[in-house]
Amino acid sequence: MPARRLLVDPDAIDPDAIAAGAAALRAGELVAFPTETVYGLGAVATDEEAVRRIFAAKGRPSSDPLIVHVLPDADLGAVAGGERTDVERRLVDAFWPGPLTLVVPRGQAIGPTVTAGGPSVAVRSPAHPVALALLAATGAPIAAPSANRFSYVSPTSADHVVHDLGTACAVILDGGRTTWGIESTVVVERDGTLVVLRHGAVTAEELEAAVGDLVAVVDPAAEVDDGAAASPGRLARHYAPATPTIAVAPRAVADDASAALPPRTTYLGLGGRPSHLPAAVHFEALAPPGDLVGAAWSLYDALRRIDAEAATDLLLVELTGEAGLGRALDDRIGRAASGRRARTAGELVVLLGD
Ligand code: TXA
Ligand code: MG
Repeated sequence: MPARRLLVDPDAIDPDAIAAGAAALRAGELVAFPTETVYGLGAVATDEEAVRRIFAAKGRPSSDPLIVHVLPDADLGAVAGGERTDVERRLVDAFWPGPLTLVVPRGQAIGPTVTAGGPSVAVRSPAHPVALALLAATGAPIAAPSANRFSYVSPTSADHVVHDLGTACAVILDGGRTTWGIESTVVVERDGTLVVLRHGAVTAEELEAAVGDLVAVVDPAAEVDDGAAASPGRLARHYAPATPTIAVAPRAVADDASAALPPRTTYLGLGGRPSHLPAAVHFEALAPPGDLVGAAWSLYDALRRIDAEAATDLLLVELTGEAGLGRALDDRIGRAASGRRARTAGELVVLLGD
């Protein structure tokens, strides 16, 4: 059955729509809802059967744990075990509600399906009026991964959710485009460090500023990145469009690579058209030059649109090469390209020959 799609204006919340979503959740059904990052596919986190339905709907392997969404209160109740550390408390104070996910010991209310059998649970409090209203009306924590088919591009609008999961959920709360358009940052405190398991809307620099005097903030790029990584969101192919994609530094499209490009090539850039881009290549800017927030907001929508148009045989997406939000963007762009990155024309020619 197609989902009931209910419009909810984030600035003037319709309590009936929220009540319908909460009732469906309490009945063990799945509800898609907007957060400030991307849309989530929610189930009551303490209802193991409903949580299993999330994995089935997404086609997600049961080994990939879910984020539990809670109201912005540092007391995590029975969701998390043990006491919050100084670092965790400070992160909660600084970033909740907001796009920061903390991995903490699993509490007794959370079953093994949510955590993929692991001893820890990922928790965050979303800064979106619709998500917060839904949490309050449901009266329970909500487990929700991004509301896309597994390994496809995350959804930043209700249309994206309908496309991927239109018959898999009971209700879709349509609150318009999400604010950030890129997922939350996932962190865990481990051995006196704060490990960034997934770069996201909160930057490593902001984490440093909040807790850098207590712990070293560690970048995952320094860690092994394989299928057995600590956080499955770090799989090499994730957030990936169907269109063959290569992540490129701008200088990779110099003259000596042009001849090897297929006729229907699209270049998704971060500002102006690179001067040496062959005339035949279709160019689109994600955002004005230097606007990383705008680029993050546009990226997933652009990837989905290019798939839907089916007019591109090769998609080149420009890497930012920047710190801050650039790390999250370059991570997503690299995964959208299944790890195929070209920094020079020579590297691009090699990848095109593969
Ligand atoms: O912005 C977001 O985080 C969105 C919205 C809906 O909240 N959610 C989201 O969920 O992106 P998902 O399931 O697509 O990504 C969750 C990430 C994955 O990389 C997963 O491996 C990691 O969090 N994760 C979840 N539980 C974990 C745990 N216990 N330990 C380590 N990583 C965990
Ligand atoms: Mg996801």
